[in-house]
Amino acid sequence: MDIISAMQQRKSTRAYLAKEVSRRDIEEILSCAVLAPSAINLQPWEFIVTYGDEKERLVRRLLKARLERQVKCGPGTDNPLPERISLRAKEAMAIMEPHISASGQTFNQFIEEGSCSFYGAPVAIIVVIDKLFPAIRYLDVGLAVSYLLLAAHAKGLATCPIGLIAAYNDDISQMLNISEEKEILLGISLGYADENSPVNAFRTRRADLKEIVTWYE
Ligand SMILES: Cc1cc2nc3c(=O)[nH]c(=O)nc-3n(C[C@H](O)[C@H](O)[C@H](O)COP(=O)(O)O)c2cc1C
Repeated sequence: MDIISAMQQRKSTRAYLAKEVSRRDIEEILSCAVLAPSAINLQPWEFIVTYGDEKERLVRRLLKARLERQVKCGPGTDNPLPERISLRAKEAMAIMEPHISASGQTFNQFIEEGSCSFYGAPVAIIVVIDKLFPAIRYLDVGLAVSYLLLAAHAKGLATCPIGLIAAYNDDISQMLNISEEKEILLGISLGYADENSPVNAFRTRRADLKEIVTWYE
């Protein structure tokens, strides 16, 4: 698959088949992720991969933590966003909502519970960075995550980046022996998409280039 097609086709997947992903495939995908560029080749990313019983244990812990703390999905800031930006989220929710309500859950319940269970994917990857790095290095990690998502897609696998789980960083760190020196940035679900699930039957849109690009000539 060429890279442009992978970019055009990739989307976040929120229902998975109960089909294992081979360790070899996971390793190949991670080997592609680390090909991402980084400032002076620091490669500040680290990945913790859980599958099988360990992933189930992690999910149980996250679902328990969710019941106790009920972290809501949101933009990760209390600052009011300009309307043209918040409308993008509203539009995405409006696209997702009818597909999700078909599953009998409310939007928030589906996203918050689904995120904590990695949407039933067989593999859950936790992306961390050493806290000694400044926030600007998160950018490098984001590039590696993009590579990971695209490599997975090119191999016929599906993913969903899951930022919500970072709110449960204490639980995750304790479960997976992640040192206090590491910041948990993101979870990623990885598996084979359940193409028949209504929750995978939509695609989000993007703002028009003229909204976000300034040209000088
Ligand atoms: C940093 C980041 C965090 C995200 N967190 C979540 C999450 O917690 N739960 C979820 O269901 N989707 C999450 N997503 C997926 C976004 O909702 C999704 O990427 C966006 O709606 C665009 O849709 P697409 O990925 O299908 O193109 C996250 C995506 C990114 C990049």
